Amino acid sequence: MKIKTLFTCQKCGYQSAKWLGRCPDCQAWNSMVEEVQVKQQTVAGEIGSSASPMPIGDISGNEEQRLSCGITELDRVLGGGLVAGSLVLIGGTPGIGKSTLLLQAMDLVAKGTGSVLYVSGEESAQQIRLRGTRMGVNAGPLFILPETSLEKIIVHIQRLKPAAVVIDSIQTVFTSTLESAPGSVSQVRESAGRLMMLAKGSGIPILLVGHVTKEGAIAGPRILEHMVDTVLYFEGEAGHPFRILRAVKNRFGSTNEIGVFEMKEGGLMEVKNPSELFLAERPLGVAGSVVVASLEGSRPLLVELQALVTGSSLGSPRRTTIGVDHNRLALLVAVLEKKVGLSLAGQDIFLNVAGGVKLNEPAADLGMVVAVASSHLDKTVDPHSLIIGEVGLAGEVRGITQPEMRVKEAAKFGFHRCILPAGNVKQVKVKGMELIGVKSVEEAMERVI
Ligand code: TYD
Ligand code: MG
Repeated sequence: MKIKTLFTCQKCGYQSAKWLGRCPDCQAWNSMVEEVQVKQQTVAGEIGSSASPMPIGDISGNEEQRLSCGITELDRVLGGGLVAGSLVLIGGTPGIGKSTLLLQAMDLVAKGTGSVLYVSGEESAQQIRLRGTRMGVNAGPLFILPETSLEKIIVHIQRLKPAAVVIDSIQTVFTSTLESAPGSVSQVRESAGRLMMLAKGSGIPILLVGHVTKEGAIAGPRILEHMVDTVLYFEGEAGHPFRILRAVKNRFGSTNEIGVFEMKEGGLMEVKNPSELFLAERPLGVAGSVVVASLEGSRPLLVELQALVTGSSLGSPRRTTIGVDHNRLALLVAVLEKKVGLSLAGQDIFLNVAGGVKLNEPAADLGMVVAVASSHLDKTVDPHSLIIGEVGLAGEVRGITQPEMRVKEAAKFGFHRCILPAGNVKQVKVKGMELIGVKSVEEAMERVI
């Protein structure tokens, strides 16, 4: 056995034999920590199944086996359920609901499929039981194991042979083969690596909970994200009950699917009709309020954009956004000034996406432009009009993807007018919907404000 110490960057996992003040890989300052590495001699074929080369045509092309979690919103984000032998990472800030969601999902798997192992390094079995009782999770072959030693966890998994395993959280797990502290990059990498081999070898899907640091990254992020098959992030604004589960990497499905949940007394509830939820408290006939349709994976989502434009007392007026990129707003404000002739230079502009949703689709551009203009001119936009389109720097309105899906969603909620890119009009056929195709921002302004 060879003992070696290495300096590991705690941000990205870069390793060096010498201490360095700045990580040459991720450029973080003072992030190198000395860690003792115990290199074990691995015997070829020791763990996992050994494979031999095979012509591609001889490989059976059967669909992967999938295990339903019993929660439609979660299954959808996973790409249709948990794939046998897959390693899934679920990240999110503390208190967002990771443990709650997984306990609910594992309860349903236990009741439907068979035994499930929930390993918790953070809460005691009693705490989990108490939480479970509140959520109606208290029976079935759902095994709780308060344990942090990787070796012991592996033994329990091999003994129990559960249908699925949850490790809550990967940062609390440690292996005795390394001397570094639990939560350090080497520990996280080693533990996740060993669990991955176990998952692949046994076909048991393993879900890892990952804590997110202040900067919004999972500790040891790059290493973990490379290793696992699927990475899901839990998003939500503090103070809002809505939670969005988003796939950022998925070897077994699409990466832009989302699941929408609402945190209630009895745990996380699925939101089958998110548009309804996000439009529920919309004030009608108020200047600055506009409804846009964003496409999240296979689902259109109607959300309300709210702009507030007021005279500024500051030398450089504020441009504050919640839920949309502020650089995008700056760009669109410049288009409004130049092409529509609005004078916004001395104005504070605030833009908010209601309900704590994050929009990162260019299809929301035209809605942002109209919301800002509506607030500035203090003129309302018809509350039953949907506004979609991408805006270019020349003030042109560009075509967007899947216009029909978005317009149909709006029709479901009683919208009867849609302002959309002229190039998209032919692609949309929705009964009872008046379509107004526009080529430029000026044209859109004439039609709506
Ligand atoms: P939790 O799942 O413990 O978060 P994480 O594991 O991501 O850190 O969620 C805890 C929060 O959820 C806590 O603030 C209380 C709230 N909560 C409810 O509102 N209702 C419930 O039924 C449960 C179990 C939790
Ligand atoms: Mg937790």
